[in-house]
Amino acid sequence: MCGIVGYIGNKNTKEILLNGLKELEYRGYDSAGIALLNNDDFFSFKAVGKLVNLEEKTKNFETRGFAVGIGHTRWATHGKPTELNAHPHTGVHSYVVHNGIIENYAELKKELIKEGSIFLSQTDTEVIVHQFERNLKNTKNAFEAFEQTISELKGAYAILLVTKEEKNKIFFAKNGSPMLVGINEENEKYFASSDTPLIGQCNEVNYFEDGDYGYATPAELVIYDKTHEKKEPHFIQLTNNKLSAQKEGYRFFMEKEIYEQSSVITDTLLGRLSDDAVIFDELGKDFFEAINEIKLCACGTSYHSALTASYLFERYAKIKTSVEVASEFRYRSPIMSKETLFVVISQSGETADTLETLKMAKKAGLKTLVICNVDNSSMVRIADKTILTRAGIEKGVASTKAFATQVTVFWMLALHVAQSKKTLTKDELTQHIHYLRAIPTSVHIEDAMHERIKRLSKRYLHGHGFFFIGRDVFFPLALEGALKLKEISYLHAEGYPSGEMKHGPIALADPELFTIALLPQHMLYEKSKSNVEELSARDSTICAISPLEFDKADDFIQTKKHEHYMLEFFEMMVVLQLLSLEISIRLGNDVDMPRNLAKSVTVE
Ligand code: F6R
Repeated sequence: MCGIVGYIGNKNTKEILLNGLKELEYRGYDSAGIALLNNDDFFSFKAVGKLVNLEEKTKNFETRGFAVGIGHTRWATHGKPTELNAHPHTGVHSYVVHNGIIENYAELKKELIKEGSIFLSQTDTEVIVHQFERNLKNTKNAFEAFEQTISELKGAYAILLVTKEEKNKIFFAKNGSPMLVGINEENEKYFASSDTPLIGQCNEVNYFEDGDYGYATPAELVIYDKTHEKKEPHFIQLTNNKLSAQKEGYRFFMEKEIYEQSSVITDTLLGRLSDDAVIFDELGKDFFEAINEIKLCACGTSYHSALTASYLFERYAKIKTSVEVASEFRYRSPIMSKETLFVVISQSGETADTLETLKMAKKAGLKTLVICNVDNSSMVRIADKTILTRAGIEKGVASTKAFATQVTVFWMLALHVAQSKKTLTKDELTQHIHYLRAIPTSVHIEDAMHERIKRLSKRYLHGHGFFFIGRDVFFPLALEGALKLKEISYLHAEGYPSGEMKHGPIALADPELFTIALLPQHMLYEKSKSNVEELSARDSTICAISPLEFDKADDFIQTKKHEHYMLEFFEMMVVLQLLSLEISIRLGNDVDMPRNLAKSVTVE
């Protein structure tokens, strides 16, 4: 959600900022902007829409020699996606970029207007730069003015600010929104809201903690903590592999990421399976001792994987499990008992609502675990224990491989708990491990299958909506299938438990209502089939996905015969992802950057 970058050094600052923003663009693409020092003066450029518009606008602008610059790609929170609302926001002689939300901006703005500040945008961010310049008038020292400004802000922020008053500095502050800085051998400094823009530029990075602020110059990096004590940066190695973030011939990152699932799931399983045991070294010994309940908390797609997990935990580990949407959980005064393991699930590890629930659980003294794809993310740094999903960088805004690896982890974790609680026999465990090893094959995509889905997709471009239906774990999968379609096709879709249709939704059934029915062989096949027949009898247009022939459907996608329902789950997951992808491509949409969305939602 929004991306920010900053740079101090001698290289081509414009290119560095634009390349950095390119890496972050999937986090928000309503508008983009940069401000940079060139020949001793600051220049600022902004453009509405995707980054190419900013690239076009700056194509004749050259930067040479030492420079300081900041940049931003925006997902609008306050104010429409217009050029005036794009960052950097400008005062008389300063520029600011910000990720997060300033909660007390309206009060500050009122005071500033009274004192004569002129506001050009409707954003919360603009108050930062005016407040800074107001404070600067009083203190005459840019750092003191910045420090005071930070202390006057309420809310979440990652901020970079540059000013003509002290041209060779970038002022920074972090609270609630992620930010890091990297330094290389040439003493160049790169700031960003996530590590991808830094890959290839520097090997060592420092992730800022909440409450950190300070400034960087060509020679130094000065950091203060929330108690205003100076602190040393804590540099760690940046290890991500840049190659995994290229499209490699696929039409979209999403497509590439769907195809990658077989290999990333292999990574997820790596070192975690023996012949008769599931091993999570990262949890240490006896992690589940004294735990009699599991609470799972997440948003969006990660919430769907958590719902799937709840079936597996109760079925195999016989442990009471509940699932919560993070944005609801945080405000509903939940009862938290110390025997509950609190698990958050997040691809990014930065989702504001999920992060907050983790902090609540920690505060209440619960044992906490995060299942996450991004090492060093905020959630990973806070939780007691982490299981990394190892999906690699996910760039498509619509999550695919992250979901697949989350469900893989959950299946393993359910067995791991079953192992420690002795709720499965050794033979049963061995059997499951055999199935787990088959997941990478189950998600392998054959050309004929992709081709079939591509052809079918042209029949689903109109109508007045979609129902995705399934039972048991195929219900959360139906929710996920509907979410994928909504996100990238902009068609209306809902996920429903198959057995629930007759309690209301079936009233909508007609030929223009499409039902995507999940009919696995090994999970309540007969019951699901009857539910689909009820819809078919009411003339709903049906696309059945099943390994078993089904003649009551208008369209039929035949999946392979697997030995276990979870393997059917994984293959059907791929079918749903491809169906959404192909429908959306036919509709001419930008699949990787769907309208109004952003990867990593760092505001609540
Ligand atoms: C949907 C999608 C979102 C995220 C949600 C939570 O394709 O990606 O629904 O799942 O915003 O994000 P994370 O998992 O990063 O906490």
